[in-house]
Amino acid sequence: MTEIKTMEFKDDILFLIDQRKLPVSYEIFQCKTYEEVDFAIKDMVVRGAPAIGTAAAYGVVLAAKQFLNNNKDEFLKRLDIALDVLDKSRPTAVNLMWATNRMRSVIDGNKGLPKESIYNKIKIEADKIYNEDIETNKRIGRNGNTIIPDKATILTHCNAGALATAGFGTALGVIRQAFYDGKDILVYADETRPRLQGGRLTAWELAEEGIPTRLIADNVAATLIRDRKIDVILVGADRIAINGDTANKIGTFMLSVVAKEYDVPFYIVAPTSTIDFDIESGDEIKIEEREDKEVTHIEGIRIAPKGVEIYNPAFDVTPHENITGIIIEKGIVRPPFNKNILKFKEERINIK
Ligand code: MRU
Repeated sequence: MTEIKTMEFKDDILFLIDQRKLPVSYEIFQCKTYEEVDFAIKDMVVRGAPAIGTAAAYGVVLAAKQFLNNNKDEFLKRLDIALDVLDKSRPTAVNLMWATNRMRSVIDGNKGLPKESIYNKIKIEADKIYNEDIETNKRIGRNGNTIIPDKATILTHCNAGALATAGFGTALGVIRQAFYDGKDILVYADETRPRLQGGRLTAWELAEEGIPTRLIADNVAATLIRDRKIDVILVGADRIAINGDTANKIGTFMLSVVAKEYDVPFYIVAPTSTIDFDIESGDEIKIEEREDKEVTHIEGIRIAPKGVEIYNPAFDVTPHENITGIIIEKGIVRPPFNKNILKFKEERINIK
């Protein structure tokens, strides 16, 4: 069992594994201000829906520390601005707004207290979000393990591992649990262009654990599915609508179409903090578009002709009818999702 410490908050510093550098080098990126956390999220030092939510929560702690010398009104005003900045650091993963909203509630509920006490309450809430996320993922792992047969061949996309969360992971949490239980599994990991989270991060995490893995170029997946080489597909999520439509890393939708065609079970694995109870369907999800350079360059080397037009959406939406089930910390949600997802609404805090 290898513990990957995606982040650690100590002495008012947020230490992050620099995910831009893995697997070539293992480096720690330090954030001492909320602006540095904002940068870390935008530049994908830290990425993955639950991980950016947790990092943002610690960003609020750093902001509170930065503004402690201001008078109370100024302290609260500046905290509010910091929350807005962190909220906007990335648009698609709802865990970010869910976490900042939890921090907002703590600030609003304790406005009458001295600044130092507000800071302490904020710190306690951020630690809670961190610890809850790890515990949640372990539960998800145990729930998901129930649908993994022995000798299963599992396909996954992007990185929904310890690195994408406070720890343990969602889709990779299920894979970890199955492996710890002694199941003889084999994982196919899509490399996940353009940023290669599968090739760089998932392959690294699984290798650290000694879990049998084959890394594949994204365009291999359909052939494996057609040839009955995949028993189950497990992917993470960045935002799930009430009807089950799910935004996840670009390419997830394509996999779901092939899985449906060949009748291979396709599961979303995510905590309830990834469910957006304010949206009815995936049509309402804002899809982040990222810079051209992610497509035109690899490791700083140009691989596309100068001047070529680029379209680079970071996520797509998998329609609910392509999803077999959604594995959450409370169990496995099955269709009809619009009825069954709502049962979990009271389990989490509203984001708006
Ligand atoms: O752009 P990224 O790397 O932040 O995207 C991450 C994903 O799409 C993951 O699959 C998703 O956040 C699930 S993480 C548990």
